[in-house]
This record gives sequence, structure tokens and C-alpha cells, in this order.
Amino acid sequence: MIVTSLKNATLKKFPLRKHIKISDYVSTGTMPIRHFNFNFDAKDFDNKFYLQKEWASAYFYALSIFLTYGEELVIETARYHRDFITDPILKQRVSALIGQEALHSKFHNEYNDMLIEHHLPVKLFRFLAEKVFEHTFLKFPQPLKLSMMAGIEHFTAVLAEYMMKHEDHFYYSDDVKSRGLWMWHMLEESEHKDVAYDVYQILSGNYALRISGFAIAFVTILGGVSLGALALPFFRKPSNLVSLSFWKEASTSASLLFGRKNGVFGSTMGHIFDYFRPDFHPNDHDTTAYLNYYKKKLFDPEIGALTPFFVKEFTPAVRAA
Ligand SMILES: [Fe+2]
Ligand SMILES: [Fe+2]
Repeated sequence: MIVTSLKNATLKKFPLRKHIKISDYVSTGTMPIRHFNFNFDAKDFDNKFYLQKEWASAYFYALSIFLTYGEELVIETARYHRDFITDPILKQRVSALIGQEALHSKFHNEYNDMLIEHHLPVKLFRFLAEKVFEHTFLKFPQPLKLSMMAGIEHFTAVLAEYMMKHEDHFYYSDDVKSRGLWMWHMLEESEHKDVAYDVYQILSGNYALRISGFAIAFVTILGGVSLGALALPFFRKPSNLVSLSFWKEASTSASLLFGRKNGVFGSTMGHIFDYFRPDFHPNDHDTTAYLNYYKKKLFDPEIGALTPFFVKEFTPAVRAA
């Protein structure tokens, strides 16, 4: 994927911005918003959806609950900053990002409602997330929110790339709706991974602030969500506390998430911390081939894995600033 150096009068005024790279979004083009109808049903739910390991799966359920709050922050921040973007294509991509995130949030909330029937602590986690976001993140000044948005989007891009490279991990369960929800979400996180970053670099570009937003996203996603995931199996089934079979698979679950060799986060630390590079850009990690493969796999009209749930695709118009 093409990345170009930002060269304009601003750079001459601020030499520290010389490392900044942004996407060649004229070549990348517009982005669509895709609508679905999943109709989640509690009877189809598999509480060991991820590789048949309960604790590793719990991370995805906790993430599903908490990510909707991160997406609301992304939507609000993107809406605010869209007005300052002058390039019509990038503006379109921001509108599509907002639409994609709004639908992720909508369908994850429907999914989370279904998790309540399986005794997952959705109401408690929602209450906690609401309080944290209301008293901290949502009160941040817009430049810090913009930096956080870029940081959150970096984590979802890393997660998306990992999941796209490990497609088989989604096929250890017959829960086709959970699989569809996560595969669609991961594809779009990878599809729009450069949008928030480009907006940040154009409107700010401050390195220290970029790393501050990353640090907050790091603590929230790897700390807060993991804590929620740790507790989740005991809310679902308190007898897990004394279950030999549960504890037997606990270390496998931990290594599936945090193992250095192949764990979701453990094996991607190099990618996560690549964000510290002053001339980092999300498209330095090229996922074009995976995106093309998954678009065909998920949306092919005949055999697409998401075709049974697909409603329509809409591309926001390109408008002059
Ligand atoms: Fe999302
Ligand atoms: Fe996103």
C-alpha cells in the first residue's frame, strides 16, 4: 500500500514533522459501509468460541462489551475532526469510518444483549465502562481524544491483522454468527486502519501526544479488557473456581492470548510497539492481499460466509470541502 511523505509549507515551518507519513488516499480511494442482519440467538452461542478455550474466549466477550465504548469515542472524535479535513477523499473515508464503527457498535451491542442470557456480566461491565468513559476519556481535550482514537485504531489494526493471518482460529466452533461478526469487524478494522492516523498526522502530528494516546489505549485494551476477561468465566459459572477441567486449560488460554510464540498479543508486541517509530505508518504493515482475500471470502454473492446476513452496502458521497 502506498504511503507518501507529507510535504507542505507546514513541514518547513515545523522541521520535527519531517518524519510524518500519510496515506496516498487518492489511490486508496473511497470506503463503503456494510449493513447486516445477524439476528443473534442465544441457543447458537458457544461459550468456548475461540479455539474451544473458555478463558481465551472470555477475552473476546469482554472486548465485545468494552469496545462499543471505544467506538463511541472514535465516532464522536472523528465527527468533530472531520470538519477540519479539506481533502474530499479523506473526508469521505472519515465518514465511512464513522459509519463502519457505528454498525460495529450496533451489532456488538445486539451480540452483548444475547450474552446476558448466558449469564455473562454484560450489565456490570457496561456500568463500569460508562463510568470510566464518562469521568475520564470523554472529558479529555479534543487533541488527546484524536491521539487516543489513532491509538485505539492501531490496536484494532494489529488484532485484525493477527486474526486475518490465523483464520483457522475462528473455525474451532460451529457458532457461525460469532464467527461472522468477528471476521467482518476485523476486515473493516484493517480496511480503515489508516484513517484515524492520517487525520491525526494532518491535524496534529505531535509525536509526544501520539504516544500518550497510544499509552492510554494500551492500558485500557491490554489492562482493562484483560481484567474483565479474567473475571468473566466465574460470573458465567461460579463453579469454574473449583473446576479441575477449567484450571487445566487456563494456562493454554493465557498462552493463546499472551504467549510470545503465537499469542494474539504476545506474538504481535513488535507490531504494537512499532507505533513508537517516528516515521511509523499503519500501511507499513501491508494487509492488501488479506483484505482482497477476505472481501471475496465474506461477501461473494454465491458462497460468501457473510452473504446470508448481508443486507446492503452504501458508499458515502465524495464532497468538496
Ligand atoms: Fe470497530
Ligand atoms: Fe476501527
